Amino acid sequence: MIRRFLLGAAIAVSALATQPLVAHAQEAAEPELLKGDWSFSGIFGTIDKASAQRGLQIYKEVCSNCHGLYEMSYRNIAALGYSDDQVKAFAAQYQVNDTNDDGAVIQRPAKPSDRFVRPFPNEKAARAANNGANPPDLALIVKSREGGVNYVYSILQGYKQAPADVKLADGQYYNIYFTAGGQKIGMPQPLTDGAVTFANGAPNDLKSEAHDVATFLAWAAEPEQDARKRLGVRVMLFLIVLTGALYYAKRKIWADLH
Ligand code: HEC
Repeated sequence: MIRRFLLGAAIAVSALATQPLVAHAQEAAEPELLKGDWSFSGIFGTIDKASAQRGLQIYKEVCSNCHGLYEMSYRNIAALGYSDDQVKAFAAQYQVNDTNDDGAVIQRPAKPSDRFVRPFPNEKAARAANNGANPPDLALIVKSREGGVNYVYSILQGYKQAPADVKLADGQYYNIYFTAGGQKIGMPQPLTDGAVTFANGAPNDLKSEAHDVATFLAWAAEPEQDARKRLGVRVMLFLIVLTGALYYAKRKIWADLH
């Protein structure tokens, strides 16, 4: 009787003891995200504008065929170091709907105050063009996904040959970081080595491209945050100089009084 009880207790205890181990092993199967080296991490870190400019070029040439940047207006990119004329020229490459004086719908070149044009008029059209998958808005992607900028950086580099036991439907691809979709993603690999060429010859291997476009999207998710941090750095510098000046003045005044 007692033997049986002890045996039962031992089994129960060992079951409890091994359970967390099993759960842990399952978690470990989820790949850890790649970690980029981000200029903007830390309280004083700000966006690397040159990298974000290359990221904008990548967005424009590749991602914007499928993904919108809904809240972003063309004039917002001035914060990345473009002049007013450059912003105007960038916007003018796109056509937007407007109405003329007679109320008829016309197309005109976009102005800096216009929102970035969307690749599809609505979600149904977006899905129809993408085998049923909906390309999400990229303006908020860095803020809305766990892992943030590292998630985007990893997804872009996460395409692999599917293991033999994974069945992919038409228009599905295997991406080890797309765990929300069981590692089956409805986006064909958008970036490869040399997918985009930069005017100044900056590196355009897959890793560098992923880094640049992720930097741009991190900025796009919170443009005000970058502006605040830049102001913060200037305020700190000002306070340091002011502290030095006050200290010097104090010494001077007290030296005269003694
Ligand atoms: C040919 C169309 C197409 C292009 C080009 C494209 N994407 Fe996608 N993307 C999609 C679709 C469709 C999905 C949704 C996939 C799904 O839900 O299975 C997606 C999903 C994503 C996701 C994952 C979103 C999530 O839900 O977690 C990210 C990140 C992403 N795209 C970034 C980019 C970036 C950055 C570029 C440009 C370098 C790009 N995409 C280019 C079609 C595209």
